[in-house]
Amino acid sequence: MSTTGEEHYPQDSILFLEKMWGDGFLSPGGPEEVRRLLSGLDVAGRTIVDIGSGAGGIPILLADRYGAASVIGLDVEATMVAHARAKVERAGLQDRIEIRRVEPGPMPLPDASVDIVFSKDSIVHIPDKEALAADAFRVLKPGGWFVASDWLIFHDGEPSPGMADYIAKEDLDFGMASPARYRRALEAAGFVDISLTNRNPWYRTVAREELARLEGAGRDAFLTVLDEAALDEQVGIWRAMIVVFDSGEHCPHHFRGRKP
Ligand SMILES: C[S@@+](CC[C@H](N)C(=O)[O-])C[C@H]1O[C@@H](n2cnc3c(N)ncnc32)[C@H](O)[C@@H]1O
Repeated sequence: MSTTGEEHYPQDSILFLEKMWGDGFLSPGGPEEVRRLLSGLDVAGRTIVDIGSGAGGIPILLADRYGAASVIGLDVEATMVAHARAKVERAGLQDRIEIRRVEPGPMPLPDASVDIVFSKDSIVHIPDKEALAADAFRVLKPGGWFVASDWLIFHDGEPSPGMADYIAKEDLDFGMASPARYRRALEAAGFVDISLTNRNPWYRTVAREELARLEGAGRDAFLTVLDEAALDEQVGIWRAMIVVFDSGEHCPHHFRGRKP
């Protein structure tokens, strides 16, 4: 994906991803995947931190539909933070949602201060999974949950040529790790009741439908936010992604763990 200055998600990229996945959503499945992730968890009245809160759709969903008392969205990119804050203001939810621009690294939150650490498809940008798991454990109150979706690679060896090609095409600073490494990181941090669910079978089907939209009936809609060359670049990314979905090497997962 093309970049502007230091940012991996410039405005045209945000608008493209929202056209693909819905207003305020920059990752596959939108509200339905959020529902799956939160299944069985008590969100109403809770304090939630959303790591990599993106365009703001998820913090708004957590406050508005799930009744979270307070959502702190953390993101590193200025354009993204401005985009999300504007959306939160339009939704009139500034009293319950705070979008903070942060530096990569430990969360600027006190120990044992939140009920749920949430993240959707953002931890892929954070290479040190062990430090992140330890920090999530630190900020959670006892009994709180770390619940996330992320983009994983099935092994911790060198990426296959197909995977290397896909990662290069994304050009998004991906730091992918395996399900085994995520599990070890969660265990080492102290989490219990850990589960990981492979979403490859779901997303490899959906990705084909997305490619069909990019190349076919949906193309004109995408051309309102990207020019022809940029859209063709996206088609190349989706084609490369489908290769590594089919091999199973690219394996988005849902995972969760509880702080005892
Ligand atoms: C694919 S988007 C997902 C956004 C949102 N969670 C969603 O699903 O719509 C990834 C987000 O992670 C943010 N990000 C990248 N590195 C980060 C870091 N170290 N800490 C927090 N957010 C980060 C990016 O700026 C971007 O907004």
